[in-house]
Amino acid sequence: MSTSVAFLSGKGGSGKTTLALSVADLLCRCGAKTLLVDCDLSTNGATYFYESQINEWNKSHAVSVSSFSGILCGTTWADKPMPLEVNPQMDFIPSVSEISSEWMTEAAVRASGDTESRLGEFLFWAKCNTDYDVILFDCQAGYSEFLPLLLPGMDVDLFVLEADSISASAMRSLHLKIGGDFGRAKLYQVFNKTTPEEFDIYSKIVGTFFTNIGTLLFDWKIRQAFSRSQIPDLENNSANYGAGLCDICKIIFSDQKIQKSLSNFADELHFRKLQEKRSKIEVELNFSTRKRERLIWANSLFEFLLFAFMVVCFFVAIFPLSMNQFPEQKESNYIFISLIGALTSFLIITVARSRSMSSEERRKRLESERQLKELNKELAGLENKLKEI
Ligand SMILES: Nc1ncnc2c1ncn2[C@@H]1O[C@H](COP(=O)(O)OP(=O)(O)O)[C@@H](O)[C@H]1O
Ligand SMILES: [Mg+2]
Repeated sequence: MSTSVAFLSGKGGSGKTTLALSVADLLCRCGAKTLLVDCDLSTNGATYFYESQINEWNKSHAVSVSSFSGILCGTTWADKPMPLEVNPQMDFIPSVSEISSEWMTEAAVRASGDTESRLGEFLFWAKCNTDYDVILFDCQAGYSEFLPLLLPGMDVDLFVLEADSISASAMRSLHLKIGGDFGRAKLYQVFNKTTPEEFDIYSKIVGTFFTNIGTLLFDWKIRQAFSRSQIPDLENNSANYGAGLCDICKIIFSDQKIQKSLSNFADELHFRKLQEKRSKIEVELNFSTRKRERLIWANSLFEFLLFAFMVVCFFVAIFPLSMNQFPEQKESNYIFISLIGALTSFLIITVARSRSMSSEERRKRLESERQLKELNKELAGLENKLKEI
């Protein structure tokens, strides 16, 4: 039996589509057979990401890819739809099947009548007549007429909101409209697009209306990927986001196989993050070693010159005394000045030696060396764990 999840929000732009696409991608990597359905007839957000694949499919097949609107209107058999195969692990049902030429409003869909039973048939097909482990529904922001039909069939409703009061108020007003339709679904929320400062605060919030199961940072690489209709790169560019998604998915999907794969993927991401941190520290240490070597060389030269000066001063002072001559007033001034010169050189050499590396630098270096040792230990542990998988 599959787990069905609806991505909801009070206000648009909170990141539902990005999250739904990324969760689908993550679950595919984890070996879960996934169906993603774009239920957003107003913006068709997720459908744009697969536009070229849909067009190719439509060109090479006699029947177009089944769409959510087609299923609701009855132009597609709700109990036998034909989703787009994105990859062997993932299928996708777009909001409309010809995004550049077809448009469909909620009113038009509703006018076709009997949407409720068609949606029911579709949900039954997806949940009971297929081998999907997970079915994800990327919904329209705010209220839509289909929500009361869709929500009772969900196992999880995930509300995505930004860390601002408008998002929270919009979620409250959505809750007022759909509060009675949740059925037996578990209700969760995530804060998305937080700044590092907000992250510290919002990740401590246990919940508002619903239980908070994650806080995700704003990541401009996600925005960049979105602008190119690309799914965020959870492994490399947006690994922090990927790690956050692993934690969220671990709460939503209780299946043992998925849980294990999620933990392994999270470990891999953590391993990579530690490797990055280690190379950063190594670069810093290398830089400080090179700087130190240059400093030592300059110090040695300086010390040598001072030492030579000290020896000369010393001999200038000692020579008249060793001749057993009681110095004249003029000579005694020279002797005095030479002795002062020798003493000052000696003091400068001593101080320079003790301060060749400032105490702050030394502390930083020791701290980096300590961190490096700990990181190496942790990395070795993780490496062994990953080898066993
Ligand atoms: N964590 C994030 N960091 C940065 N940008 C994000 C993040 N999540 C979503 N976005 C951006 O926010 C915008 C709206 O996201 P979208 O998924 O379309 O929201 P919704 O589906 O809720 O309307 C997109 O430009 C997307 O790239
Ligand atoms: Mg969207």
